[in-house]
Amino acid sequence: MLGSYPNRRMRRMRRDDFSRRLVREHRLSVDDLILPVFVLEGEGRREAVPSMPGVERLSLDQLLPVAEECVALGIPALALFPVVDPALKTLDAREAYNPDGLVPSTVRALKARLPTLGIITDVALDPYTSHGQDGLTDAQGYVINDETVAVLQKQALSHAQAGADVVAPSDMMDGRIGAIRAALEENGFIHTRILAYSAKYASSFYGPFRDAVGSAANLGTGNKYTYQMDCANSDEALWEVGLDLAEGADMVMVKPGLPYLDIVRRVKDTFGAPTFAYQVSGEYAMLKAAAENGWLDERACVLEALLAFKRAGADGILTYFALDAARWLKQG
Ligand code: PBG
Repeated sequence: MLGSYPNRRMRRMRRDDFSRRLVREHRLSVDDLILPVFVLEGEGRREAVPSMPGVERLSLDQLLPVAEECVALGIPALALFPVVDPALKTLDAREAYNPDGLVPSTVRALKARLPTLGIITDVALDPYTSHGQDGLTDAQGYVINDETVAVLQKQALSHAQAGADVVAPSDMMDGRIGAIRAALEENGFIHTRILAYSAKYASSFYGPFRDAVGSAANLGTGNKYTYQMDCANSDEALWEVGLDLAEGADMVMVKPGLPYLDIVRRVKDTFGAPTFAYQVSGEYAMLKAAAENGWLDERACVLEALLAFKRAGADGILTYFALDAARWLKQG
């Protein structure tokens, strides 16, 4: 009768489903998901990406049904990444702003067929350079900032002209958000949103993506340490985000995702701006590999990881699991 007992029983609210639901702080919804896709030139083409089981490079005709499924499931937007013909890769990356190139023509076709689906394009030169770097280089191979930004402006403009709703610079050059915003305004594209990859780290988790777009071979043993952020830094991410917002970004992104949720939380708390996170190719590969070996429950672990992004303060998540997650959420 006089036995000791805890004065606060935290387990009371966890006892039943009804009370767990009542006090649940965060929820993942289909509105939080963005699907990254890899598009190829041609027709009737589908290529598996070995390091990303379940992900394929698709030609436009094969991509359209995927985009239709995004609309049917309620996924708000799709992020387009081009697989560029190696013959079109050059030192000056001129294919990046070809108005009839793969990205602009894909954007036009998607917007014509599915006008309500948000289309996000990647603004960066790595799919177009013969060395696989995200910019133009000098004789020593150093990526030169301001000359690169001038090309990025042309690239972003070509995407906006094709009807892209959001341009997403993922290159990490200094001053590119302001330069792209100015180019868009001067050309009357006042509604084109900019999703800035503001805190993009020089991560080794991008490996499978570089296989998918075919830049890995071009990059070889090269790295991106002179422009992407040092993985050891956190305050610097806030500095980058502050600059990009001041230069005119509408949304900011942290990348990679799960290993960088501390950065997502700091960005959200500091700026309160729309904050996105990218569950990158390496994160996808890890979850997929473990699931395929029967080591992890795929559905449970993927939904848990995506919910963790929300708990950290992300407004949305770029994830290769977007279609699966949307289906699972629908099933309840
Ligand atoms: C390059 C780019 C990368 C990714 C998106 N855009 C790779 C890189 O910086 O080398 C990675 C995405 C992923 O790993 O899923 N502009």
